[in-house]
Amino acid sequence: MKKVLVLNGPNLNLLGTREPSQYGTATLQDVEGMCRAAGERLGFEVECFQSNWEGALIDKIHEYGRLYKEGAAHGCVFNPGAFTHTSVALHDAIKGVDGLPVIECHISNVHARESFRHHSYVSPAAAGIVIGFGVDGYVLALEGLARKC
Ligand code: DQA
Repeated sequence: MKKVLVLNGPNLNLLGTREPSQYGTATLQDVEGMCRAAGERLGFEVECFQSNWEGALIDKIHEYGRLYKEGAAHGCVFNPGAFTHTSVALHDAIKGVDGLPVIECHISNVHARESFRHHSYVSPAAAGIVIGFGVDGYVLALEGLARKC
């Protein structure tokens, strides 16, 4: 069974208590459980990883780039959190692994929020984008990966 990485960036470990009016009340553990259940339905083995450190996220993208080339991974669903709006390094990591389909996912509709959230360094490197569907967006992104890639 091919692997799919569900990758979460900074502050997403605080889901459940962090700004519930923006992000809802589901915890990261709840979200990861939803993703594993969706993976079972779609025929993927889902690995979940969260870090507040940019380099750890980059290392994980590199690892999955290698797995993708070996035919062992199908893709990645990635919520880069605030690094979305700042990180050329994450853009370069996705471009650098060349091929791994990455679906960028945001819980909130970033375009309806502050202007500094309107630009994403990740989007030009992403295979698709899911924005504003709450935590259900992770499942929609996994379904998109199954259909598109
Ligand atoms: C977010 C949106 C980002 O702007 C923010 O910094 C986050 C979460 C979202 O899922 O809506 O941490 O990626």
